[in-house]
Amino acid sequence: GFSWKLPDHPKLPKGKTIAVVVLDGWGEANPDKYNCIHVADTPTMDSLKKGAPDRWRLVRAHGTAVGLPTEDDMGNSEVGHNALGAGRIYAQGAKLVDLALASGKIYEGEGFNYIKESFGQGTLHLIGLLSDGGVHSRLDQLQLLLKGASERGAKKIRVHILTDGRDVLDGSSVGFVETLENDLSQLRSKGVDAQIASGGGRMHVTMDRYENDWSVVKRGWDAQVLGEAPHKFRNAVEAVKELRKDPKANDQYLPPFVIVDESGKPVGPIVDGDAVVTFNFRADRMVMLAKALEYADFDKFDRVRVPKIRYAGMLQYDGELKLPSHYLVSPPEIERTSGEYLVNNGVRTFACSETVKFGHVTFFWNGNRSGYFNHSMEEYVEIPSDSGITFNVQPKMKALEIAEKARDAILSGKFDQVRVNLPNGDMVGHTGDIEATVVACKAADEAVKMILDAIEKVGGIYVVTADHGNAEDMVKRNKSGQPLLDKNGNIQILTSHTLQPVPIAIGGPGLAPGVRFRTDVPSGGLANVAATVMNLHGFEAPSDYETTLIEVVDK
Ligand code: 3PG
Ligand code: CO
Repeated sequence: GFSWKLPDHPKLPKGKTIAVVVLDGWGEANPDKYNCIHVADTPTMDSLKKGAPDRWRLVRAHGTAVGLPTEDDMGNSEVGHNALGAGRIYAQGAKLVDLALASGKIYEGEGFNYIKESFGQGTLHLIGLLSDGGVHSRLDQLQLLLKGASERGAKKIRVHILTDGRDVLDGSSVGFVETLENDLSQLRSKGVDAQIASGGGRMHVTMDRYENDWSVVKRGWDAQVLGEAPHKFRNAVEAVKELRKDPKANDQYLPPFVIVDESGKPVGPIVDGDAVVTFNFRADRMVMLAKALEYADFDKFDRVRVPKIRYAGMLQYDGELKLPSHYLVSPPEIERTSGEYLVNNGVRTFACSETVKFGHVTFFWNGNRSGYFNHSMEEYVEIPSDSGITFNVQPKMKALEIAEKARDAILSGKFDQVRVNLPNGDMVGHTGDIEATVVACKAADEAVKMILDAIEKVGGIYVVTADHGNAEDMVKRNKSGQPLLDKNGNIQILTSHTLQPVPIAIGGPGLAPGVRFRTDVPSGGLANVAATVMNLHGFEAPSDYETTLIEVVDK
């Protein structure tokens, strides 16, 4: 029968304190002025790189290596941390939704049949991120869903859009809204009453995460459900163009708006009898809205009016909370993660980040599972993030505080694994502010130093890696790698993640002298890290895990 017991590693000892450091948004790219990691003063990470090839290498962090549909899909934190923690590659939300749409199975499932009940009398509302970024949602999936739902009886459809500019170029919102408007007018010509009803920028409206700032979700609720917003327009293309005229405006932070008819009435508030689908497949930035839509008892903000609706998520966003209870596509079932194995084999675990990445290094790491496996063996610490600011204003974020917590956990002797996520490269990289991102990278490097110093003191081991690229390339490039210019001759800032590989470094006084990276896993990716860490804890990884990156040679 099944057993959690892991075999002993034939050569590596148990009982070493291991720091597992994930630098968020820290890829490897050519050293030029748009590579903020290169420009920044990063002596710690530079010194780790000198350990190549035995103790530093690159691993794949995008595309099929992390369960995404194609090699054109950049990595992201959800799939990256899933792969790091699970040690295997699972088909991820983006891919699962593609398959369900292609086979038509999405329309046969419980979730679609549930919302379909409302198509006769009610309106179908679709709420989500409008872009082709492929991190949280994809435009082509929305387009297929619009077509499929209207062919299956939806006569009145309202789309509530969230503009992106974070997983795609800033300013691209206009084109996406035009494309959607065009699709909706096609539907109208077929007799479907289809319109955009509301909108706003993703970081200001709806898509908060880890309960950092409920006012973001409330702004969305007011526009989407109540039909109330500070800005009213007759048409969404005009709305986005007009709101972007403010010199400080960008797609990520557009204020909320509603679309109104000729008499000034909102065209699509959500009312009793309607159906609602949140079409993001990724959980972290949709689960807060899902709670507001689904929970009878809800006290995070005053909902004013709670319509009786049939609600389904594109995916189920939280498996333990069973939230939402209806969904169109089943999420990946990630089981037997390295965290659960290690705890069951006596590895006492500490995990820490600040709010904006806390769920990454716990929930995503543990296969989309919240809470502890065994509370007496684990401690997870969340340091509150600054809220209500963009992180270019505070590029150091809480890196120092996270490192101090990790240091103290290492020195306490109470833990065998001390795992952190350092968010700086990613969160500041997403602002597109190059100078601030340089400061961010330096702060992350200093945090790594503090953690490695503590490992040095206790005779431990470190594993330093990243979840995907971001800060190493801040400019959109053409196929041959040249920076692209906009029509005014300015470079096009890349706020998104990248397709770049990420580094992994191992070391520390506790590392057995003969340990080195194997040369026979050249295409190794993030999913190979779990087996590697298990080995360093003195265990063999389960046989279905992606292979370890290390070997032990006699010294
Ligand atoms: C976000 O949600 O902030 C971005 O879309 C993706 O960033 P992450 O994958 O690094 O969280
Ligand atoms: Co990111």
